[in-house]
Amino acid sequence: MELSKVKNYDEMSMEAAKIVFQKIVDSNRLVLGLATGSTPEKMYEYLADMLNKNKVDLSHVYTVNLDEYVGLSPEDEQSYHYYMREIFFDKVDIPLENTKLPNGVAEDLGRETREYDEMIEELGGVDLQILGIGRNAHIAFNEPGTSFESGTHVVDLTESTIQDNARFFDKIEDVPVKAVSMGLGTIMNAKSILLMASGDGKRQALKNMIHGEITEEVPASILQRHHDVKVITDVADIEL
Ligand code: GLP
Repeated sequence: MELSKVKNYDEMSMEAAKIVFQKIVDSNRLVLGLATGSTPEKMYEYLADMLNKNKVDLSHVYTVNLDEYVGLSPEDEQSYHYYMREIFFDKVDIPLENTKLPNGVAEDLGRETREYDEMIEELGGVDLQILGIGRNAHIAFNEPGTSFESGTHVVDLTESTIQDNARFFDKIEDVPVKAVSMGLGTIMNAKSILLMASGDGKRQALKNMIHGEITEEVPASILQRHHDVKVITDVADIEL
């Protein structure tokens, strides 16, 4: 694991954007794993600026998102489909057919999860996976207790995640209680991983991820076993 300590959210976002930008520019073909949540928002903003200023053609870039809420259609403003279009896809020159997210309103969710994994495999796997982390050390929507071997699956969100995400909804009852999420096995298959964490609320999760026991109770702890993980954080007292 590699650790980059930065002063604040802005620096974290800029450093991450530069890494992703460079990877895009240096590749003939790239599969990017994308994350949502508040953490990567500014990174997407910076990245879009860099791509546009440099007139980077993105027809060689494919994106696969980590997760989507069950029950929210792509047009729903709270859906991750909507978030990605608003924050990134509509701002850059990427063919929309290159961008994939799980379908949270699929009639057969079991089939959706299987097909999502097949789709990732057909693309040749994820080259660079961007991650945030939840306060309980969840990554994507893999809550404590999720199998380290899991592929894309349907998840029951924990109370703490529902509460954390309630800020994006009018009222807590509107927060979906299930999601379709890439699994920990899916994430571990990525060739490289870039995890961003900002703010004191993520301190404990980061400490457990980096120094704690590798246990399914701390989903992000599995990243200790990955050979190419970079963590960028503004949390001051985190050390490797
Ligand atoms: C959600 C997302 C995760 C994200 C986490 C942290 O549960 N599914 O991908 O990492 O929240 O969110 P935030 O970045 O808003 O703190």
